Amino acid sequence: MDILYIQKVREENRLLNEKEIKEKKIVLKSKPQNILLILNNVCNLKCIMCEEFMPHKYIISDTLFYDIVNNMKYFDSFSCQGGEPLIFDKFNIILDKTKKFHTHLNITTNGILLNESLIEKMYDMSITLHVSIDGFDKKTYESIRVGASFDVLKKNLQLLNSIKNKQGYKQLRYELFMVPQKLNYTKVVDAVDFAKQYGFSGIRFLQIRVYANKNCLLNNEESLFVKKQIIACMEKVKIEELNINIDTDIPLDYDDERTNCLKNYLIKDFRDICVAPWKTISIQKFQQVSIDCLCNFKKADVVETLEDAWNSQYIQDVRKGLVANKPFSSCMNCYKNSLFKNISGKN
Ligand SMILES: C[S@@+](CC[C@H](N)C(=O)[O-])C[C@H]1O[C@@H](n2cnc3c(N)ncnc32)[C@H](O)[C@@H]1O
Repeated sequence: MDILYIQKVREENRLLNEKEIKEKKIVLKSKPQNILLILNNVCNLKCIMCEEFMPHKYIISDTLFYDIVNNMKYFDSFSCQGGEPLIFDKFNIILDKTKKFHTHLNITTNGILLNESLIEKMYDMSITLHVSIDGFDKKTYESIRVGASFDVLKKNLQLLNSIKNKQGYKQLRYELFMVPQKLNYTKVVDAVDFAKQYGFSGIRFLQIRVYANKNCLLNNEESLFVKKQIIACMEKVKIEELNINIDTDIPLDYDDERTNCLKNYLIKDFRDICVAPWKTISIQKFQQVSIDCLCNFKKADVVETLEDAWNSQYIQDVRKGLVANKPFSSCMNCYKNSLFKNISGKN
């Protein structure tokens, strides 16, 4: 697809979107610029902290899937997750469409099903793989990521490392995702050496959700230990001048100079109010609408098309709440909101 045509479509959509934000429109004619899509809840692993396995299997309907990928020309980025995205039977369509429309593709994966032929398909694409790895030795990794083989993971990471600087793969990045929890919290700092060894460009430490298996949750002392280790990771990267970006949704000490860049990253959606619901959309399991931001939103409204989701009553209510300065409780409790207030001095 002609890149100039795509740029024109996106620019027009962006201008319309800016106008609608300025006018505080609630029902939008502009399309979302970024989308997060949950493709399924089916996985090849049974990670101990993951609450994805449930009695009801979910795979996105063809109607919704095709409606979304047929709007690809509007999306700057398309993020997909599961379950495991690599076992979704139309994953090749996602690769083809994002490539054709020059859309950046983010995939959160356990990395076990990566192989040469899949990586070949990523040729000449702008793509970020978020590879979830919760241990940096065989015992810890395999105890948490049940069903995965540490040796297979390392083989696949070697493959990525061997192609990443090759012609045609310059826009392929891969980042390490880790959920600090009971079985690995003392080894958080090992993430840096592991990332260095396999050529990761970033590490993200994810806060374990409160409703995860309670045996995995950390007590206050352990959580504090994790925070200190994340800061130690930041320092290590700085001292060793490594090209590894570190971020986290775990609240650290915000006044600390070391986390300044993190602050800027986290509040990128804010103007006078948070504009995430005007730019992004997320469609979760069982086709429920949410917002592609880091807040833990209540999901609502089951949808069959992108338009259903984008102007659903739920998203309209979220927008209305922000405009009227009466945000939903999820927005109020969002740590980005409190960061924004800290920085801007707003109440
Ligand atoms: C549910 S997984 C699905 C994608 C893919 N199968 C994978 O392993 O990355 C998406 C991300 O959520 C993380 N995750 C799983 N359980 C979690 C929990 N209880 N709290 C926070 N993040 C969790 C995973 O580690 C992974 O990075």
